[in-house]
Amino acid sequence: MQSQATYNYKVVRQFAIMTVVWGIVGMLVGVIAAAQLVWPELNVLEWLGYGRLRPLHTNAVIFAFGGCALFATSYYVVQRTSHTSLFAPWLASFTFWGWQLVILLAVVTLPLGLTSGKEYAELEWPIDILIAVVWVSYAVVFFGTIAKRKVSHIYVANWFYGAFILAVALLHIVNSAAIPVSMTKSYSAYAGVQDAMIQWWYGHNAVGFFLTAGFLGMMYYFVPKQAERPVYSYRLSVVHFWALIFTYMWAGPHHLHYTALPDWTQSVGMLFSLILLAPSWGGMINGIMTLSGAWHKLRTDPILKFLITALSFYGMSTFEGPMMSVKTVNALSHYTDWTVGHVHSGALGWVAMISIGSVYFLLPRLYGKTEMYSVKLINAHFWVATIGVVLYIASMWIAGVMQGLMWRATNADGTLTYSFVEGVKASYPFWTIRLVGGLLFLFGMLIMFYNMVKTIAGQKAYDAPVLTPAHA
Ligand code: HEM
Ligand code: HEM
Repeated sequence: MQSQATYNYKVVRQFAIMTVVWGIVGMLVGVIAAAQLVWPELNVLEWLGYGRLRPLHTNAVIFAFGGCALFATSYYVVQRTSHTSLFAPWLASFTFWGWQLVILLAVVTLPLGLTSGKEYAELEWPIDILIAVVWVSYAVVFFGTIAKRKVSHIYVANWFYGAFILAVALLHIVNSAAIPVSMTKSYSAYAGVQDAMIQWWYGHNAVGFFLTAGFLGMMYYFVPKQAERPVYSYRLSVVHFWALIFTYMWAGPHHLHYTALPDWTQSVGMLFSLILLAPSWGGMINGIMTLSGAWHKLRTDPILKFLITALSFYGMSTFEGPMMSVKTVNALSHYTDWTVGHVHSGALGWVAMISIGSVYFLLPRLYGKTEMYSVKLINAHFWVATIGVVLYIASMWIAGVMQGLMWRATNADGTLTYSFVEGVKASYPFWTIRLVGGLLFLFGMLIMFYNMVKTIAGQKAYDAPVLTPAHA
């Protein structure tokens, strides 16, 4: 009978564990890539050289680590807030195994150099088809669960997860359209400037929907839960949702400033990026203000520290992004490590931290425990990770601005003041600091892994909750 059924936690557990595992793998590859920039002699093997490891890193952290966190939390949240178990549990199980297969295929093909050459969409066409099948299945499970919900209203977190699922399906299918010439090689269906435009429409919305909207879904569920306070403003969350999803779609051309793209499209991209500051900050403020009346909890609750620090980094990177989209600023920042600093203030500060906080929230509940094995270790993780992010992004900002200024410096006679190699030499100290920051962040993930294993292995405190409205 429905009312006695339990929530489907199996698939949530699987994705939650793999979030931590892929986080470690993806960040380890990032650390190796960072080390290769400091010591180029580490590029010993062709398939483990920097050019192959970089896309492996981005795929592993975004789609494996971030993707598993999104699957785990969305499957949990949609069940709890809809007061029902997952629609088509066998299909949900298929999404888990299908997604792991996609990741494994990426781990094999990217080091072999098999790539479509499109950033964040490197995987070749047979894998793209598998991604589309898994993703459509995900949509069926998610929206099927919404359709059979036992409460009339759809909680705002589900709106964000839903938009993320629909938009990613659209982006992936349009941008991956290609003409195959063999099993491992295809050519884009688009040519020239249209290809570039479609790619960065995809690329920016991968940021907006994969790396932002879904994680905002996490924010809207886990921040109020952990703070034990209602969302600061439900009305603001609705405005936040529509303004954000409408605006993101137009901002892509800021990745193509000063290129062959028509000038007016670049200006449209810049304008919408500037507008994007407003919904982004509206969302951040809504999340942070949810703590009203519970600020004291920040002192003692490391999970809340992760969630709220993530929101602060979200605010920082969504202030920085609009600034970088201004053409005159982009003239300095583009091609430099400033971009890499911006990326990781969003990726480590926002995406990784909100995921880590949410998984710490989930693990004890998924395994019937009262809390994590060690709260002290969560606190240690928090500090190691925070210091790691700060070292990473501060070093990249300094290196980036320095590179930009060195490249544009000219002598009185119009010749360049610095050769390119001088810029590279000057960057070494900062690349070393970034490596230290990355190592710290990775170390934090290892602490999390240990804490997770101990929590799962520990004494069970209660059975998985049954499906009654009281548990929502
Ligand atoms: C231990 C943590 C990490 C380390 C050491 C690390 C290191 C690196 C390195 C060395 C690069 C290449 C930079 C360059 O081309 O100059 C890179 C690029 C990138 N990383 Fe990470 N990373 C880490 C975590 C993450 C996470 C968690 C995410 C996403 C959730 C992420 C997303 C990216 C992206 C999107 C790029 C490409 C940036 C661009 O093209 O401008 N990284 N990372
Ligand atoms: C209001 C929000 C944001 C705006 C307007 C924005 C704008 C920008 C701009 C102008 C660039 C540099 C493009 C270039 O010079 O090539 C950029 C790069 C990037 N941003 Fe953002 N950003 C925002 C938020 C974020 C967030 C929250 C994340 C991550 C979670 C993020 C991830 C990235 C990535 C991965 C790139 C590098 C793309 C590449 O070249 O490979 N951005 N962003």
